Amino acid sequence: MRVLVVIIGLFTLAGCRPPLTRTDIHSYAQPELARVRHIELDLDVLFGQRQLAGSATLSVEGPGPLTLDTRGLAIERVELWNATRRAWDAGTFTLGASDPVLGAPLEIPLTAPDQGVRVYYRTSPQATALQWLDPPQTAGKKWPLLFTQSESIYARTWIPLQDSPGIRVTYKARIRTARELTAVMSADNSKNRPRTGEYVFDMPQRIPPYLIAIAVGDLEYRALSNRTGVYAEPATVELAAKEFSDTERMVGAIEAMYGPYRWQQYDIFVGPPSFPIGGMENPRLTFATPTVLAGDKSLVGLIAHELAHSWSGNLVSNATWRDLWLNEGFTTYLENRIQEKLYGRERAEKEFAIEVGELREEMKRLAPRDQILWVNLDGRDPEEGFTQVPYVKGALLLRTLEREVGREKWDAFLREYFARFAFESITTSTFLDFLRLRLPESVGVDVSQWVYASGLPDGAALPAPGVFAAIDAAIVSFGQSKTFSTEGWSTQDWLRFLRGLPEDTAGPAMTRLDEAYKFSATGNSEILTQWLRMSIRAGYEPGLARLEPFLLSVGRQKMLRPLYTELARTEAGKAKAREIFGRARAGYHPLAAAMVANLLK
Ligand code: BES
Ligand code: ZN
Repeated sequence: MRVLVVIIGLFTLAGCRPPLTRTDIHSYAQPELARVRHIELDLDVLFGQRQLAGSATLSVEGPGPLTLDTRGLAIERVELWNATRRAWDAGTFTLGASDPVLGAPLEIPLTAPDQGVRVYYRTSPQATALQWLDPPQTAGKKWPLLFTQSESIYARTWIPLQDSPGIRVTYKARIRTARELTAVMSADNSKNRPRTGEYVFDMPQRIPPYLIAIAVGDLEYRALSNRTGVYAEPATVELAAKEFSDTERMVGAIEAMYGPYRWQQYDIFVGPPSFPIGGMENPRLTFATPTVLAGDKSLVGLIAHELAHSWSGNLVSNATWRDLWLNEGFTTYLENRIQEKLYGRERAEKEFAIEVGELREEMKRLAPRDQILWVNLDGRDPEEGFTQVPYVKGALLLRTLEREVGREKWDAFLREYFARFAFESITTSTFLDFLRLRLPESVGVDVSQWVYASGLPDGAALPAPGVFAAIDAAIVSFGQSKTFSTEGWSTQDWLRFLRGLPEDTAGPAMTRLDEAYKFSATGNSEILTQWLRMSIRAGYEPGLARLEPFLLSVGRQKMLRPLYTELARTEAGKAKAREIFGRARAGYHPLAAAMVANLLK
């Protein structure tokens, strides 16, 4: 040990540090010098100030100095553990210049290798990861609500840490809030614990920092099985429990294919309508939008997706945001396999066909460099990597490999992959090496072209072209004012139908559709979004009557983006969009607000 200290001392004296191999361009961390292994949070949730305040205690490995990521954090002071005195000493720190995307590096010199470091800090009321809701914005209207959304690089807006998915940490937390509220985290949530206002958590499994998550509010729990359940506001929890009653079957289905669920408990926190995305795979506790509560389980593919991340993404994680397709492409593929097992091949194929349609649409607008799975994000916000490419092109590659080697071999390979890299973060090349080594039968697929070139390679295992034949025939019939049957149509069928209608479908046709199928009154948020788009385009009043209330309550970007975009196509529409956004903005998540502001500028 003493020898090591001397060597490191010489390095530092000579002003030369061990060589740097920074693989993650979106983090200031220099894990070769100091790597965070464990985090203990001690935080007060201050709804009045919209701030988290307290400390993060980091167990650090290495000689130092320690470099952390922060964005918008007010650093109050730093303490270093003195192992001789068994007490905390005052430490020093330097907060570097802040970059708008990456934030500011926080450099802390260590006074001993492998030292404990405690940072006292406060978050900004504008922290990107945090959405603070006042009571009127919640379902119950009585209590405030807070939740986090840290993927991809927003954990640094509420915790000073090494915010790279290549760094894995265990964590504990002590959270203080009003005694009427419940806090839950991506950790062990002992069910229905008494409301005391102080809650402790433990996540003993190593996870990348973007998976650290918390929600605080008037939350209740309903068990769905002995290891699955839902948390939501009292007004929503029953509905959510009904909608997600297949969750245990989903866990069983994917376990049978790809090995045991390694995280003990699988719960779902159903957030408020303003939740900015569909779902987030926080370990042990998926966060989900209530817009999937359609009443008929037709949108639970989202749960299949977030659950599948318990294997692809959480167990085996992308080491950098360039490797995102290892998370999202694998998960889109697994999601589809779960759907096939639970709801049959036809529904799974239809969902995939819709996704491939969305990929093709988006590819038309994407520059060639963004059609590459191993996407180059140099100098860019990792957010720019979240296109349909990692999701659907990634899943298509896996489908193509499956077709090449046969399902049995392919599934065995995936099972081995999850076991081999469990609790590790890997890069694309690690996967490719493993594929070549363990599945040589896959040589027939030009994986390099898939991963490093733009566009869709020939020979992709696309969904069968005929899956929507009946719907496509109905579209033609509708155009010719002929009758057709819609008996037994699923949500996916309706989406295909509406999206297949001509762009210029106008008032009279809209009225005809609405009288027959009551779209303006639908409780299905996906169908409604599509219907509202068409209503804006056609200037169809009965549909438009739902637009404003929808935009004022729902904050899911997938739905806001097409609606505001559609509005912004005309000058009058743009003025209306600005007016609605002016009132809706305070209720949107910071990310959603920024996205809409950008659309309307
Ligand atoms: N990991 C993502 C959530 C995410 C998306 C975080 C974009 C940061 C940026 C999650 O697993 C996801 O993909 N959610 C989708 C739903 C899914 C069914 C495709 C979403 O939110 O729309
Ligand atoms: Zn995902």
